[in-house]
Amino acid sequence: KKIKLKVPATVANLVCGFDILGMAIYEPYDEMELALTDSPEIIIRHEDPFGLPEDPLKNVAGIVLLKIQEHLQLSTGFEVTIRKHIKPGSGLGSSAASAAGAAFGANILLENILSKNEMIHFAMFGEELASGVRHADNIAPCIYGGITLVKSTVPLDIIPLNTPDLFVTAVHPQVEVKTSDSRQILKKTVSLKSAVEQWGNIAGLVAGIQKNDIPLIGRSLNDVIIEPIRSILIPQFDEIKSKSLQSGALGGGISGSGPSIFMLSEKKETAEKIARLMKSIYDNIDIESYVYISKIN
Ligand code: HSE
Repeated sequence: KKIKLKVPATVANLVCGFDILGMAIYEPYDEMELALTDSPEIIIRHEDPFGLPEDPLKNVAGIVLLKIQEHLQLSTGFEVTIRKHIKPGSGLGSSAASAAGAAFGANILLENILSKNEMIHFAMFGEELASGVRHADNIAPCIYGGITLVKSTVPLDIIPLNTPDLFVTAVHPQVEVKTSDSRQILKKTVSLKSAVEQWGNIAGLVAGIQKNDIPLIGRSLNDVIIEPIRSILIPQFDEIKSKSLQSGALGGGISGSGPSIFMLSEKKETAEKIARLMKSIYDNIDIESYVYISKIN
């Protein structure tokens, strides 16, 4: 049996929900093919130009399958072909897609032996290999779909939220921002004043999503803790954000740990206008960029 998967990109943090909120989108997505093999070997093939390691111990999908194989004491192995379209290092959940896709695919091949949270548990080993941190804010929406809240990782407590009918525009400028670096520069402490402001934003955002209150979502997409520091690593961040808001975006900010930036809009025309705006801002300073227009998946 061979299965084919489309594994979605994800936007982690959703501005104010650092390490706890995330959403799956339709574009870009990775393609994965998985099959069970008679021998216990795990074979990974990358049919993409990114030069990712194919040794299962060094490959994000490979490590997840090894952990599943070990846990279930399987005598069979897996053969996996990955065609990655979500660029590694984009901040659009590229490593999460490989990890979640591997867990999701293995679960189908093994006739639904794993729960969603078990798939997330195994996929988090892939995130750990990629960035050194076992965060679940990209993995959870990749497995559940839509928007998820990671209430805690130990124990794993995932709350799937509603899916508001919004458009997502994302731009990926071709500059390198490593997740490890963009975590390193963050302050280890926050003032009580900022924390209270951030709690208000997160609670407002979750309430807005659950009530489908679009203006409330818009006024809650503010981050007083992470964005002021991380945005320094992203060229033209302030210009893109302010001009997108002037063009009618509901709100937005850094996607995951960057360098991608995302904006939410109610109308497709607004999302398209913002896409053109983002592209032209980067074209003007000779930075190559990729722009995606999508919906919440
Ligand atoms: N929540 C993580 C971060 C996502 O912002 O560092 C990394 O993809």
